[in-house]
Amino acid sequence: MSRRQGGSRDRSSMGREINSNYGHGNLVSRTPPFGARSDSRGLVAAVNSPACAAGELLDPVAAYDRVAPVYACLAKQRGAYLDAIDRIVVSEIPPGSRSLLDVGAGDGARAGRIAGAAGLRDLVLLEPSGVMRSHCPAQANIWDMRAEDLHCRQGSFDVITCLWNVLGHILPTAARVAVLRQFVRLVPLEGRIFIDLNHRYNARHYGAVATAARFLRDQVSPGDGNGDVTVTWSVEGRLVSTTGHVFTHREFAAMAQAAGLRIEKRFVVDYASGALRRWSFEGNLLYVLRRL
Ligand SMILES: C[S@@+](CC[C@H](N)C(=O)[O-])C[C@H]1O[C@@H](n2cnc3c(N)ncnc32)[C@H](O)[C@@H]1O
Repeated sequence: MSRRQGGSRDRSSMGREINSNYGHGNLVSRTPPFGARSDSRGLVAAVNSPACAAGELLDPVAAYDRVAPVYACLAKQRGAYLDAIDRIVVSEIPPGSRSLLDVGAGDGARAGRIAGAAGLRDLVLLEPSGVMRSHCPAQANIWDMRAEDLHCRQGSFDVITCLWNVLGHILPTAARVAVLRQFVRLVPLEGRIFIDLNHRYNARHYGAVATAARFLRDQVSPGDGNGDVTVTWSVEGRLVSTTGHVFTHREFAAMAQAAGLRIEKRFVVDYASGALRRWSFEGNLLYVLRRL
């Protein structure tokens, strides 16, 4: 989806940015609400008006319960990006790896493809949304829980994935660091952790002016909440809003270090095309991490 279709401009509402482009290429509806545009398939609509995001703000898991019926469409719209991330992940999984834990697995489709391509035999999907889980393969091994509750689980996984800004639905920063610490506990020394994040300074996606404004705000008034956004979809004509977070590299690097993780590699991936980019302001950020 292009930025025009997606309505890339963010606007402030009660101190929180409304970011309809945040995670999924936007709003999905067969009957676009006021101010929305639909694509050629009549599926995609984007709304930039604060009024459209002013409805009930749901907990992320409750929001995904409502989004789940159209989730496959959302993923298809971002297919170029998601497929590119999956290819990089598969190429970076060390030979001999056997097990994968996918945190915030959604419908489990991506984890299934990654596990298949990398020859990982043991796959666990962690997914707290019941409706999302109902779209997972029937035979899948599923942990019905939030990432924040991982401390209750034992296990060891050669690979942990946490893809498409799942970490942005975990608030506040301290909770994200606690989740990353659990990842450290659950991978062996030679294991790998893959996390991709929506990049706060992705000027190619959000536009130069909005990105510059975000950057200036971070300089003048730094704060953990600066990256907090409201994510809004329209699902079958009804608006669904939840909280999210878009990250800076500096912010994530500090969180990783605090959790005991080393950034082994970082990829910048264009959110529209999936192409690898040189400069961080050109895309989202995919991290390959190891235990310190
Ligand atoms: C954008 S979807 C990504 C799904 C999948 N990773 C993918 O790339 O297709 C975000 C997922 O994170 C899940 N989620 C939200 N809050 C979560 C939490 N606290 N712990 C784990 N998963 C969460 C949602 O239910 C949803 O399935």
